Amino acid sequence: MYDPRFSDPRFSDPRSRASYPAPMGGWGPLPRPAPMGSPSTYPPGTGPSDWFINQLFRVLVVVVVVAFALPAVVVFPVAYGLASWGGWRWWTLALPGLAIVLAVIGAGWYLTGDPAAPFLWHTLGLRELFANPRHGPAIADLATSRWLTWLTHEAPLSAGAALIAAGAVIDHIATTPGDELSPTAQRRRQRHAANLQRRAIKTAAAAPLTVGRHQAPVLGGWTDGDLHSWRSGRWATIPSSAFGLGGVVLGVPGTGKTESLLRLGELALTQDMDVHVIDAKGDLATAVRFAALVAGHGIEAKLFPAEPYDGWRGSPDVLRNRLGQIIDYTEPFYEDGAGDILDTILTAPGGPPRSFTALVAALEAIATGQHDVKGVDRKTREGTLSRYRRFAATASGGLDGTWAFEDTRASYVLLDGVTLGKDAPRLARYLVEDFAHYATSRKPPDRRAMLLIDEFSALRLPNAAAKFEKLRSFGAGIWIAAQSPEGLHDDPREADRLLNTAGTILSHRIVDPDPVITRAGTLWRPERSHQLDPSGATGTGSLRLQHTHRIDPNDLRSLPAGVAWIVHAGHAAKIAVTRTTARPAEIPVTPAQPTAPAPLGTGDADKPPAREAGPTAPTTSPAAQQV
Ligand SMILES: Nc1ncnc2c1ncn2[C@@H]1O[C@H](COP(=O)(O)OP(=O)(O)O)[C@@H](O)[C@H]1O
Ligand SMILES: [Mg+2]
Repeated sequence: MYDPRFSDPRFSDPRSRASYPAPMGGWGPLPRPAPMGSPSTYPPGTGPSDWFINQLFRVLVVVVVVAFALPAVVVFPVAYGLASWGGWRWWTLALPGLAIVLAVIGAGWYLTGDPAAPFLWHTLGLRELFANPRHGPAIADLATSRWLTWLTHEAPLSAGAALIAAGAVIDHIATTPGDELSPTAQRRRQRHAANLQRRAIKTAAAAPLTVGRHQAPVLGGWTDGDLHSWRSGRWATIPSSAFGLGGVVLGVPGTGKTESLLRLGELALTQDMDVHVIDAKGDLATAVRFAALVAGHGIEAKLFPAEPYDGWRGSPDVLRNRLGQIIDYTEPFYEDGAGDILDTILTAPGGPPRSFTALVAALEAIATGQHDVKGVDRKTREGTLSRYRRFAATASGGLDGTWAFEDTRASYVLLDGVTLGKDAPRLARYLVEDFAHYATSRKPPDRRAMLLIDEFSALRLPNAAAKFEKLRSFGAGIWIAAQSPEGLHDDPREADRLLNTAGTILSHRIVDPDPVITRAGTLWRPERSHQLDPSGATGTGSLRLQHTHRIDPNDLRSLPAGVAWIVHAGHAAKIAVTRTTARPAEIPVTPAQPTAPAPLGTGDADKPPAREAGPTAPTTSPAAQQV
């Protein structure tokens, strides 16, 4: 821009005067750039800093507010405090604030015909204070006699403005990372996140089963994250495509895996899917809750072992595979021998056996030499007999029953690890194998089913990832729960495969979160560095974009019970899972299972095991009331 001093004779150039001191060696460029606060310009600690400017700005704001909008001093902190504590979104303050301001302006305009009228009223106090009548205002008198009128005139616009400002502050805190050097800012962000989480937990408790036109199943309350397609307002939903494909639920004990599985089971019912549960931990209270839950949907659940399962459906080939699950052979040669023996029995002219009693009888005939199986020595024959006989004794008719997966819409298989011992995983594998046969052959193709396996690691299921992959294509989704990513399977490669093929990972608190956070991917985030001198930060620094994990590992390590991170297709969301509830009226008066199922394998019905002290009458037990 043109500077008149260069041509106007009234401005003499001071540099032309000889006596004029030459500051810093003349008017040339400064010898060194002097950024604010740089140690070369000011003694340490005395330079103007961000902190100083910030304080000055704050004082100015306070002065302006006190002069122009005293009621805002009350409205702002109250609104901010409430919103922050309740985890409200910024617009829940800003929109009402805007509405108030617009309504006041509109009303003033309507009443006086002048849109500026509310502003004139608003500044009444200032105008009266600074008005200059002939004898001058006696400020003290004026203020004491008029303060109430002034406040009344200031209140409407100030309240609106304060709400808008509080909303803006909430938004700022929610979206801008806190200054790394300001513990207060960091604490404010943490408090904000904690409040959001608390609110989501509260919201989750009141979640409906489905929302929206498409009846999307609701997992719980939404807290945070970028899995936007799963969000519906304050709810976290699960798209039915992802739902049907199954997934992995993780979490150390007591963090909500079983609750999450129950919720998934309930949601499956709303999607018209069949739900089957295999509980390798053997929690009777959960079985009772599950029965009550599905009863609320008008379905009577089959409960194993109270109602023995029919494990003998299918052709000889299928039975051979299934029976093979019972035995963990260490030597393949042994396995082959047992396979030959089973083949002989299953393809006998009279048809395959249809109960363990029949199987054991046939094995006895072979072991004692009544029947010959070529190429199998006596040791293998006797070994095979003893294994199957022991299993049959423990299972005590549990697999010689009358119902199978296709006969019911919901079932709960409870495996009591304490009584079953080593046979618990064998039994579970037998049933999983039968589920696979049901899903691929016995289930109508358009019927969708879901299998929930709690404490999956106890099954030690070989080739699990490949098996589940196959079942998915037959419309059967499998959700498995385990305590940690490595704990999914004894074989680390299998554990990895299970995580890699899982469409969705729902992780509650875990100790080593790396496998989960790496699968959630990274985000570009700016990262700042600060330059320091002996007195502290100089105010200069640098900023660079950096890949950071989408899920903060420390957050995953410290989630409260019921809160989880969902990882799906490289995106993640933090949610509070809803605990399943069935209203008391929905719990059947005569429950599907009036007495506790006798743990499998005791073979002694009148010896009450310790856990029978648990809920036996779901209508009155505390467990059922939580249902
Ligand atoms: N979604 C939830 N909402 C509220 N509380 C929960 C939730 N999930 C779990 N909890 C609490 O945590 C406890 C343990 O949950 P549970 O599902 O049995 O854990 P896990 O199966 O991981 O051992 C529950 O009894 C309940 O008090
Ligand atoms: Mg559990």
